[in-house]
Amino acid sequence: MNILVAGTGYVGTTTALVLADMGWNVTGLDPDAEKIRTLLQGSIPFYEDGLEELLRKHLQQASIRFTTDASEAIRQCDAIFICVGTPPLPDGSVDMRYIRQISEEIGRHADGYRLVIVKSTVPVGTHAKVAEWIRSAQPSPHPFDVASNPEFLREGSALADSFQPDRVVIGADGEEAVQAVRKLYASLNCPFVVTTPRTAEMIKYASNAFLATKISYINELARLCDSLDIDVNEIARGIGLDPRIGALFLRAGIGYGGSCFPKDIAGLLQTARENGARLGLLEEAAEINRTQYLHLLNKARVRLGGFQGKTVAVLGLAFKPDTDDIREAPSLRLIRSLLSENADVRVHDPIAKLPPDLARQPLTSCGTPEEAAQGADAVFLCTEWKAYRHLDWPGIKSAMKQANLFDGRNMMNADHMKAMGFYYQGIGYR
Ligand code: UDX
Repeated sequence: MNILVAGTGYVGTTTALVLADMGWNVTGLDPDAEKIRTLLQGSIPFYEDGLEELLRKHLQQASIRFTTDASEAIRQCDAIFICVGTPPLPDGSVDMRYIRQISEEIGRHADGYRLVIVKSTVPVGTHAKVAEWIRSAQPSPHPFDVASNPEFLREGSALADSFQPDRVVIGADGEEAVQAVRKLYASLNCPFVVTTPRTAEMIKYASNAFLATKISYINELARLCDSLDIDVNEIARGIGLDPRIGALFLRAGIGYGGSCFPKDIAGLLQTARENGARLGLLEEAAEINRTQYLHLLNKARVRLGGFQGKTVAVLGLAFKPDTDDIREAPSLRLIRSLLSENADVRVHDPIAKLPPDLARQPLTSCGTPEEAAQGADAVFLCTEWKAYRHLDWPGIKSAMKQANLFDGRNMMNADHMKAMGFYYQGIGYR
């Protein structure tokens, strides 16, 4: 079977490479010629461990190719994975422009049956719109099926999540379409959840919203733990051992970021509003996340007696380690607040770069964490990069003006840092 993967962003590129590794003939399609050129040269346009090796292997074996030519790619394939972006609009609703574009291209160029599989995260009911857009663009009628197959991979562990998924969700209306999607994933050894397309679309939102709520729950408890002088990490361990709760996603910190949780919660809240329902728990989870960084910032402000004229080092820009993604990263909210309070801000990240608006601000981007901490009145840890845990902390302390450490990821051992002479403040943890 020849498979076309439309959209070569994070999910599309990973999906294309994983399918090629499973033995399928894959074409990656993207209108961005620069991106296609980069991929054809064997480079991944973003950072994700292991992807580049896989890309080079499959380019060499000619089991994957990339193109900007939609009409040719659609004519030559049997199945199409839609992996295009679904960015948020200002009101929180989902921008469906790219989904519509590719659906219409499929309608225009498919000259026979096609299995269309929607992987992009899309609002409930989108599969029916995709079918309508395909149909309305067809010059003459051709049969097709539209299935929903949401993606659950995480940045930083995209390959492991794809080759050993917890489950594969397939939403399709006919048994033939279900079997065809199943066949594509025949080499995976995991449960398959087969359901309707609407349910599959909802499972994706429900899953991300639940995980985000779990984080906001522990983050809200962390605020109380701080006042009660209780270590929230011990609370997480104490409750997480109950399998009904589970130990994962209970790490308190300055909040979740990334391209999925904030966007998907906003998208689900918008769907709720459109349907006259109120998801109060989710609204609160989003609000806790939006304000979580302030909790640490306020403590630092009190400790330093304000930020005016103070030098503050921010270590970690990425929304989580092992990625260069800064979308919705809480570090950026923190930096903007520090700048608005006239702090002299110095930042470092092993791979992530400042967004253009912040790069224009009067702050210093440093090549090493040591350089960022030089002469600082405080260091904020915003991403739990492994390298930060193993820095020469005594050396950093002696290079700082005042040894204040604000750990936004509870990644350091408080007792060790205090023994070293740091004033240490974590989140729900001293
Ligand atoms: C998430 C979902 O996990 C994945 O299934 C979906 O397909 C896409 O969205 P991702 O955004 O890549 O994946 O990262 P994830 O590891 O889930 O972390 C999201 C955010 O939550 C990060 O900012 C992380 O730092 C934060 N987080 C995670 C916490 O603050 N505490 C935790 O305990 C776990």
